[in-house]
Amino acid sequence: MSTSGKNHTVTMTDNASGKSAEFPVMHGSAGVPVVDIRSFNKEFGLFTYDPGYTATGSCQSKITFIDGDKGILLYRGYPIEQLSEHSDYMESCYLLLYGELPTAEEKAKFSYDISHHTMVHDQITNFFRGFRRDAHPMAVMCGVVGALSAFYHDSLDIEDPWHRKVASYRLIAKMPTIAAWAYKYTIGQPFVYPRNDMGYAENFLHMCFSTPAEEYKVDPVVAKTLDLIFTLHADHEQNASASTVRLAGSTGANPYACIAAGIAALWGPSHGGANEQVLNMLEEIGTVDKVPAMVARAKDPNDSFRLFGFGHRVYKNFDPRATVIGKAAHEVLDILGVHDPLLEVAVELERIALEDEYFIQRRLYPNVDFYSGFILKAMGFPVSMFTALFAIGRTVGWIAQWNELIEDPEQKINRPRQLYIGEPSRDYVPVDKR
Ligand code: SDX
Repeated sequence: MSTSGKNHTVTMTDNASGKSAEFPVMHGSAGVPVVDIRSFNKEFGLFTYDPGYTATGSCQSKITFIDGDKGILLYRGYPIEQLSEHSDYMESCYLLLYGELPTAEEKAKFSYDISHHTMVHDQITNFFRGFRRDAHPMAVMCGVVGALSAFYHDSLDIEDPWHRKVASYRLIAKMPTIAAWAYKYTIGQPFVYPRNDMGYAENFLHMCFSTPAEEYKVDPVVAKTLDLIFTLHADHEQNASASTVRLAGSTGANPYACIAAGIAALWGPSHGGANEQVLNMLEEIGTVDKVPAMVARAKDPNDSFRLFGFGHRVYKNFDPRATVIGKAAHEVLDILGVHDPLLEVAVELERIALEDEYFIQRRLYPNVDFYSGFILKAMGFPVSMFTALFAIGRTVGWIAQWNELIEDPEQKINRPRQLYIGEPSRDYVPVDKR
């Protein structure tokens, strides 16, 4: 729980009414303290205004910490660089959900439980068949994940910790199956069922790339790298999709509906959809000599184009995940013997942007989405699947945030207010008088 730092307060005065009031400043265990303005409207009869919530804390959380200036990312206090090097996705999932690294037995039990929930109710396969074959995988995931609440009635009571745990495990376990089947459906191949004797990332690759005619031999390097990508995408504090899950959860909606809402929010090109747009952008640039023109477009205030994979609401330094993924991209493409000419375009784009005053002044750096697509493309995934893979990794973060919300006694239904700038009250005008 946060503690007030040495009776730290902020005093505000309304110069229209002359009224003053003091507001307590809450200090966390790290990061920026917050001014508690819950009594602000009662004190002044005013609302605060913060479009995009650029300076607003919505909750107290123990899950993930980000320092945007220093480029720090901690899952339950552990630096992402150390987890990337020494941990794996199942262990990171346990850490995010329970707050501590698991013992060997706890990790084995957790991995077993997750691997034994990867099947979905067989009638759910019918949902896929309602989509066109060229449906975007994220559209399919929004629909099918939301539909899970129509099947799993035994885990919908959000006040019951056991129900929450069952729903949490089901969502983490079934997301790869649903994403793999969304992919299979779009390429007209039959669904491949999960295997309980495979690791999380290995199983996903198996479900995506095996066919009834031929077993896909999972390359351990590919499986380990995909596991790393899931770990790097697992959680990120109160990002747009996590906040969407929390807002939906604050109404008492069931976890399947809340996670479907998170998937929908993640799909946006300003958020998780950026990894797909980075590759589309680099395809459009095509060659290194065309990079300066694209950078000029990104800087042009009259052009809505922005460099996908660049910039971040919080990171005003390197996104530590981008550093890890950038290194992995070069290593994995070398190991796989893949030469992707677009990687040179990306490296040149990064070089020019990082030397350009426009980007330096705005502290715009590559983010998690800038290099991830190269690895996913080298693994054989189409660009349209990139955000679905982001959703697989992020499901545990959404679930951890949702559980924390439900268990937080301070939380209530999220219901922001507004500044009304529409028409004042006016009388109805009959149609023959208009
Ligand atoms: C993710 O929040 C999270 O934690 C998200 C995430 C997670 O793990 O959950 O990290 C995942 O979503 C990463 C971000 C992926 N999105 C992109 O790569 C899309 C491209 N980036 C931009 O759209 C933008 O940087 C955002 C959306 C990421 C952040 O936007 P902000 O914080 O609202 O910043 P802003 O729009 O106020 O920009 C500040 C200035 C503006 O210029 P001025 O008006 O001051 O002149 O920087 C400019 C912007 O025009 N700017 C860019 C730019 N990003 C910001 N200019 C060119 N290219 C860009 N990419």
